[in-house]
Amino acid sequence: MAQERVWTAVCPVETVPLGAGVAALLPDGLQVAVFRTGDGVFALSNVDPFSGAAVLSRGIIGDRGGVPVVASPMHKQCFELSTGQCLDDPEVRVACYPVRVAAGTVEVGGP
Ligand code: FES
Repeated sequence: MAQERVWTAVCPVETVPLGAGVAALLPDGLQVAVFRTGDGVFALSNVDPFSGAAVLSRGIIGDRGGVPVVASPMHKQCFELSTGQCLDDPEVRVACYPVRVAAGTVEVGGP
């Protein structure tokens, strides 16, 4: 039987600045970076896999060829917001979490 996904309320959607990110802690201690752009809300692991630093929420949002990305503040590698795929290294991907907005609150889903 499929397990029901657990959604964690993270913050009111308006506290995530448009075109930027915030860091949030899930109950199991996972750090996520929640981003809001004109395309919607995204949630990735907050940890930059290249440096091990929990900084992706402070990255710069942009786009590369129309693909929304965040550039790590550490070494500037870009990660696709909708998948976590690193566009600078095909072998690297950060965890990407399901995310939704329910009644004005951002909720991040468990894996
Ligand atoms: S595309 Fe900007 S550094 Fe990778």
